[in-house]
Amino acid sequence: MPIDLLLNNGTIVTPDGEFRASVAVDGGKIVAIGSPYSMPPAERVLDLDGLHVLPGFVDAHVHMREPGMTYKEDFLSGTSAAAAGGVTTIFEMPNTLPLVTDEKVLLEKAALLQGKAYVDFCLYGLIVEDNLKELAGMAKAGAIGFKLLLAEVTGGVPRPSNGFIFESFKELAKIGLTVAVHAEDKNVTQYYMEKLKKVTQEPIAHCWARPPIAEEEGIQLLSLFASQAGNKVHLVHTSCGTDLIKAAKATGAKITAETCPQYLVFNEEDMRSKGAVLKINPPVRRREMVQKLVEAVNDGTIDTIGSDHAPHSVEEKTKESIWEASSGCIGVETMVPVMLTLVNRGLLSLSRLVEMGSENPAKIFGIYPKKGAILVGSDADFTIVDMKMEKTIKAEELHSKQKITPFDGFRVKGLPVYTIVRGEIVAERGEIISGPRGRFTKPPLNP
Ligand code: DOR
Ligand code: ZN
Ligand code: ZN
Repeated sequence: MPIDLLLNNGTIVTPDGEFRASVAVDGGKIVAIGSPYSMPPAERVLDLDGLHVLPGFVDAHVHMREPGMTYKEDFLSGTSAAAAGGVTTIFEMPNTLPLVTDEKVLLEKAALLQGKAYVDFCLYGLIVEDNLKELAGMAKAGAIGFKLLLAEVTGGVPRPSNGFIFESFKELAKIGLTVAVHAEDKNVTQYYMEKLKKVTQEPIAHCWARPPIAEEEGIQLLSLFASQAGNKVHLVHTSCGTDLIKAAKATGAKITAETCPQYLVFNEEDMRSKGAVLKINPPVRRREMVQKLVEAVNDGTIDTIGSDHAPHSVEEKTKESIWEASSGCIGVETMVPVMLTLVNRGLLSLSRLVEMGSENPAKIFGIYPKKGAILVGSDADFTIVDMKMEKTIKAEELHSKQKITPFDGFRVKGLPVYTIVRGEIVAERGEIISGPRGRFTKPPLNP
């Protein structure tokens, strides 16, 4: 019996380096890696000469808005954007409506999304004041981890009290799952926002209203709590505070950090030309801080890359006043091309990108080596890329429902050619070629 698929002549990329090999796929799994001559016959053979074979990207940070805000995005459109952009697994955030605060809502969300996903998906539960008793139930129902917000974002999630956060961290230490935290603290941003709102409408004032100290204070608080509670904390969309993260890691606290392409590409000055299209929380930072972030990407202080795909309608993003416009931008389809472009510019190596985009998110959330690896026995998820192909990103060509993006007009070098999920080619050259057969993926209990 021939196996399902053979990937021939490509260059395999792992966090440790690159090598030429063939990969054999059967039943959705990797069954062999080696010389083309040692491979069994296959139903389908892809000749990947000149292309790089990366483990499928695991985007641990997307907001697909279903249920409750499907005018912004829905699971079909959002996951087709993921597949077209070379992402094979997404972790969906819990600030959908109803908020995912207990086992019942999580199970209902999983059932609702089944059959609407082009890529595999995981679901977060949300930590809100007083849902301590619900956390174990959500873990049992298959939550990949939890989300905690120190800022107020889409969905109107109130910031829990510090006492409750510490209690929830102690509970998470027992459960074993990771908590992803939006570290910017509302207590700081609220003060500056109220002050600035009265005196300016300039888009760049959004950055001044959410100064680095808001994020740094949050990182400091979370590091202290995590080091005493002993739980795993993943700081999402890190834009600054990397010295604090480094120091926290050195104490042995289980802290990891994500950044997003938008924080590596844009800076405060871009607010002047892009306006609210680039309004995101945390905001883009000053040029010298962006440089510092790039260093943290390379020295290992930042562990992962995620998109923080956060769609809003054009009306919501183009309000007259910067204070009225919604925060967040789409990014799941542009993350891989933009990061490959940064590799081509020499900002980081392709191996480091694979580590940050695939291996580390899978490890941090306990689904490695099922996801995040090119190893015999792993799921056959691949992002196969052409590092030489160039293109200008055009908003209207993206698969998301709401296409407004700060990356419109951005020239990329490096594009996904095939997105393969459990052995099935889901997208080819940016177009979807399969049905929505993504699976709800749960971490093993007590990872
Ligand atoms: O800009 C943002 N938008 N930051 C967040 O943390 C949430 C997100 C959203 O859900 O719109
Ligand atoms: Zn956030
Ligand atoms: Zn987010």
